Amino acid sequence: MSAAHDSALATASGRLRTPLCDLLGSRYPIVQTAMGWVARPELVAAACNAGAFGFLAAATLRAAEVGPAIQRVRELTDRPFGVNFHMFQPGAAQIVETILAEKVQAVSFGRGPDKATVKRFRDAGIVCIPTVGAVKHAQKMVAIGVDALTIQGGEGGGHTGSVATSILLPQVLDAVKVPVVAAGGFSDGRGLAAALAYGAVGMAMGTRFLMTRDCPVPEITKARYVQAGLEDIVLTTRLDGLQHRLIRNEILGKFEQAGPARLLWSALHNAWQLKRRTGAGFGELLQAARAMQREGGLTFGQALMAANSPVFLNRSMIEGHPAEGVLSTGLVAGVLGDLPSCAELVERIVLEAEQRLAALAAGHYGTHYE
Ligand SMILES: Cc1cc2nc3c(=O)[nH]c(=O)nc-3n(C[C@H](O)[C@H](O)[C@H](O)COP(=O)(O)O)c2cc1C
Repeated sequence: MSAAHDSALATASGRLRTPLCDLLGSRYPIVQTAMGWVARPELVAAACNAGAFGFLAAATLRAAEVGPAIQRVRELTDRPFGVNFHMFQPGAAQIVETILAEKVQAVSFGRGPDKATVKRFRDAGIVCIPTVGAVKHAQKMVAIGVDALTIQGGEGGGHTGSVATSILLPQVLDAVKVPVVAAGGFSDGRGLAAALAYGAVGMAMGTRFLMTRDCPVPEITKARYVQAGLEDIVLTTRLDGLQHRLIRNEILGKFEQAGPARLLWSALHNAWQLKRRTGAGFGELLQAARAMQREGGLTFGQALMAANSPVFLNRSMIEGHPAEGVLSTGLVAGVLGDLPSCAELVERIVLEAEQRLAALAAGHYGTHYE
């Protein structure tokens, strides 16, 4: 690297130091979000070592696996990082205790803990930063005392809402008085500059970090993401009853054609698989389904189908069978065609964001005009 390049990066790191860097202890205001079976210790550590802030995905781990996974991240990086989980997963109470005992920097969650649990995290110095997809959820999370929020616009990956980032972000910024991180569709430095211009304190990305060389997902599965165009990415409720953004593949085709009996069989089969993997009893799974119905506003059918996602994600992300598993994705995969390392990715984002911010500050608008 040239001296000019190094000095550009150093300047960038100064200009891009936002309150998010102070809250999370990261060098840049860039977050690698949690992704089930994807955000494993290798990816989290690589993201953190590159200057971003990584979240370990614990929502797909057994309670007993969370502590060792945290230890593994610590072997690979000395940077702070966070853990993502949700309160309806089997063993959630034990996971809360593990996170408290390990004193990680931050927790994120979608379907979240109650006020008392948030207070326990905060009293232990652990930053609470849930992800929300609607303004009313943002207000609810602020009311239970979280430190900051990540908003995920509809173009984002995995389970996702319908409101686009460009609409949800200003709406939430107007409605709450905590720092907000923007997610859903981001992949580059222009996105980071735009998020900051809106008033966010940083940018979070899932799909872009999945599509890196450091991500431990099998190459055959990552190749599907590289190949996918925008027309290959669909939003469906067929898989688990919730709105889920996926790359169209062989198994989704089968789900779309399946009748109710086939869908019921799949849901029960996957609940059985999940029971075996998590070691949860039927009582515990039923309790989790009831809680999802009650608190998550799901129908019984949706709660029953909830096991489909983690089981099929495992098939693609761990076992390396992209045709037989789920390829959860953000829309942005349709325009990305490379697999940089996390270090290369973060570096180019930082340089580009700095360029855009500097150009705007100097009154230079547009990118292609003289
Ligand atoms: C493969 C995949 C798995 C995901 N799993 C989770 C998860 O376990 N928990 C969670 O809170 N969000 C999950 N998400 C959502 C991401 O954390 C993040 O909010 C989203 O990907 C942001 O949008 P982007 O992909 O456009 O960057 C997942 C997303 C993807 C692509």
